Amino acid sequence: MAARRPFVAGNWKMNGLRSAVAEVDAMLAEGVPDGVEVAICPPATLVGPMAAWLADAPVEVGGQDCHAAASGAHTGDIAAEMLADAGASLVILGHSERRQNHGEGSAEIAEKVAAAWRADLRAILCVGETEVERDAGQAVGTVTLQLSQSLPAGATAVNTVIAYEPVWAIGTGRTPTLAEIAEMHQAMRSHLADQLDPAAAGAIRLIYGGSVKPANAAEIFAIDDVDGGLIGGASLRAADFLPIIKAAS
Ligand code: PGA
Repeated sequence: MAARRPFVAGNWKMNGLRSAVAEVDAMLAEGVPDGVEVAICPPATLVGPMAAWLADAPVEVGGQDCHAAASGAHTGDIAAEMLADAGASLVILGHSERRQNHGEGSAEIAEKVAAAWRADLRAILCVGETEVERDAGQAVGTVTLQLSQSLPAGATAVNTVIAYEPVWAIGTGRTPTLAEIAEMHQAMRSHLADQLDPAAAGAIRLIYGGSVKPANAAEIFAIDDVDGGLIGGASLRAADFLPIIKAAS
């Protein structure tokens, strides 16, 4: 994984009540492995509590979406500044469930990324092709276009992590072959070399997400240019999440 520090984030999606403190306690009792940066992105209701539960732990807290504006008449939305105020240091943006279920397009996502930076949050920007796009031979073209359109100028290794998440691999138990993941991550890295300044392009972490489990994490994280993972279902239980974190360390 070159000199880039591995990064593993848990995306809890719309799961988790305050009783989830038990899983967090189990994780902390076991001990979070060194050598890897770890984050949990719980539902918005738990961002504040999670930040308190993890106050003394080497685990960051993130949101799963934010609005582009800092405040205003946007019922049901959350500003990046509010996430930061609640204790978050990062936010997932452009997840395919947001793109599909909420009609978010790349231009809107780019505004959200800029909003995250404005609030000093690191953006975890998600990109990924659908199965139809992959079958049509358009996977790399789709993903690099999403990068061009949803990553604003000014991305650095500090303010941004990019997650490649093939839509058809999310929550399905199916994953691309290791060769397909390697091909995509190489393509993203060389695309970024054109889009960003060279230092940023080489240093930004490119993580993989979509049906990562304890059983497949090590082989995926061993791929060149895969700098960790964005973990959905398997991040909800300490017994699954910890071995995945270990596999990245
Ligand atoms: P999954 O989800 O690990 O449950 O496939 C990943 C994600 O959507 O970030």
